[in-house]
Amino acid sequence: MATSSAQFASEFSNPNLDVLLSEAQIHARIKELGAQITHDYAGLNPLLIGVLKGACFFLSDLMRAIDTRVGIEFMAISSYGSSTRTSGEVRIMKDLDVPIEGRHILVVEDIVDTGLTLSYLLANLQSRGAASVKLAALLDKHERRQREVKIDYLGFPIPDEFVVGYGLDFAERYRNLPFIAVLKDPSI
Ligand code: IMP
Ligand code: MG
Repeated sequence: MATSSAQFASEFSNPNLDVLLSEAQIHARIKELGAQITHDYAGLNPLLIGVLKGACFFLSDLMRAIDTRVGIEFMAISSYGSSTRTSGEVRIMKDLDVPIEGRHILVVEDIVDTGLTLSYLLANLQSRGAASVKLAALLDKHERRQREVKIDYLGFPIPDEFVVGYGLDFAERYRNLPFIAVLKDPSI
């Protein structure tokens, strides 16, 4: 006899998820963003900076859609615990391994929500003497914005819903979904 946990053992078809963006939609949009970035940064040797952990998935697909010389670095920033609401507190948990003076920086983020994390991070990188600092974000939850943040390369605007998948988590779960879904009930 199957137990309820065995019945829902598949994470990809978990009934608590409502698919918002399919894997095909995500990849098609990333191809377009990659072509735009290739065009805009040709010959500039940009440095992509991914914000751990959520942006890794978007970053790795985006970088492979960029056909010009490009570097990669990671930072870890904390503004969320395991809840669905931001604390407003921003801390650098892992800094860059290289100086960025004179470099063209493209920060790659999974989602811009309140904008608190990004407005802090973009100003911080600009203050290190970067030649330019721009932002690529897969998702924009614009209704929740508290600080204005310019998104230079946007994947998709989304409604004010808590989403998971393709790197986005709820308490470290669901990052492995190949699509993006609304989490219907965060309590189960
Ligand atoms: P912000 O500082 O409020 O813009 O928060 C940005 C960070 O909050 C993102 O990088 C995510 O880690 C997290 N976040 C915001 N909204 C969601 C969501 O709907 N699902 C999962 N994580 C989210
Ligand atoms: Mg994040």
